[in-house]
Amino acid sequence: MGHDPLRYLDCSATTPMAPAVQAALLRCQAEAWANPSSLHGFGLAAAEELERQRQRLAAMLGCDAGRVVFTSGGTEAIHLALLGTCSGVASGARLVTTAVEHPATLAAAEQRRRAGWQVLQLPVDRRGLVDPDQLRPLLAPPTALVSVIWGQSEVGSLQPLHEIGALCRQAGVPLHVDAVQVVGHRPIQFDCLPVDALSLTAHKLQGPRGIGALLLRDGVTLEPQLGGGGQEGGLRAGTEPVDLVAGLVEAVALSQGRLSQHGGRDPIAPLRDQLLERLLLHPGLELTGVDPRLDSDARLPHHISLLARDPEGRPLPGRQLVHALWRQGFAVSSGSACSSGQQRPSPTLLAMGYGPEEAQAGLRISLGPWHTDTLLEQLPPAIDQVLAAFGF
Ligand SMILES: Cc1ncc(COP(=O)(O)O)c(C=O)c1O
Repeated sequence: MGHDPLRYLDCSATTPMAPAVQAALLRCQAEAWANPSSLHGFGLAAAEELERQRQRLAAMLGCDAGRVVFTSGGTEAIHLALLGTCSGVASGARLVTTAVEHPATLAAAEQRRRAGWQVLQLPVDRRGLVDPDQLRPLLAPPTALVSVIWGQSEVGSLQPLHEIGALCRQAGVPLHVDAVQVVGHRPIQFDCLPVDALSLTAHKLQGPRGIGALLLRDGVTLEPQLGGGGQEGGLRAGTEPVDLVAGLVEAVALSQGRLSQHGGRDPIAPLRDQLLERLLLHPGLELTGVDPRLDSDARLPHHISLLARDPEGRPLPGRQLVHALWRQGFAVSSGSACSSGQQRPSPTLLAMGYGPEEAQAGLRISLGPWHTDTLLEQLPPAIDQVLAAFGF
């Protein structure tokens, strides 16, 4: 029971591979396993497959195939963007990010800080959203780069990317966007986005772990962070994992196909909305982040984040709830997976104005395309039962 994917509700952490993705991997492992840099026929077959997949990805995401850099995932793509762009800019420059970034961005920003850059975090409101008006005055020199998490992993907020991008464009400041949580849930046309670099990863959308990409606007120069064999046009060394690339591209194809069949909307959103409606009937649960019933465009469509309290209003530790729900056979998370090994308040909830105890009471439910209405019958009673143990 515990390993039924219908009960896996942690898709913002990672997702199981789709069968078509597994098939793409197997096909490449059989047919294109060689080193794409080798000059013999085996190598040429791998190189052709790699380029075919690169072209296919670029066509689906509306970017130039020559500006796709495959990486080992989101973390590496973010580091490449934050450390590799603006590499000629002297210390004293400024990087503007937000107060709700993923730890990968925090780590890369910290490297910039140690190299003499200033790093500024835009505050967020109670819903986890930045106010573009607060960005405007920060775009003057010495700001050299802006990096924004588009879809926040923990609380699901979608930043107003078009407004942020328009301001950056006006000011001539390059913008990197961490789209790791967004790709697969919204159609992406890189050409039409006011951004200069975009990071994505495969494993959040039923692709394999260990593969991602950085998409770059024409004219953006990039200093490689990994040197060696000159792969990826000299921008990222290391023998390309052609099978993982094929898996990534298949996963993007599946998700973009699903979106285009539903008018560009993620078809999981109605189930998410019904589940949310049902869960919020419980007096011990409140929503964190944007309420999708009020503004569906400002929240990831597969994402619910809650805060649980006991009947006296005291926040309940999210980790205990996660364990209790797992005993009922449901896999959910408390806060972001990367920090859930440690018992500490979520920096995201703190930045949104929650107190330290509340910031340990987060509960995240994130759906995948395979989920069905049966969840509406199964999950709420399980949560009711867990909360009953705390006095409800
Ligand atoms: C918003 C966001 N950015 C970056 C990452 C890192 O991606 P990866 O696990 O592929 O390194 C994650 C994954 O948790 C994420 O949710």
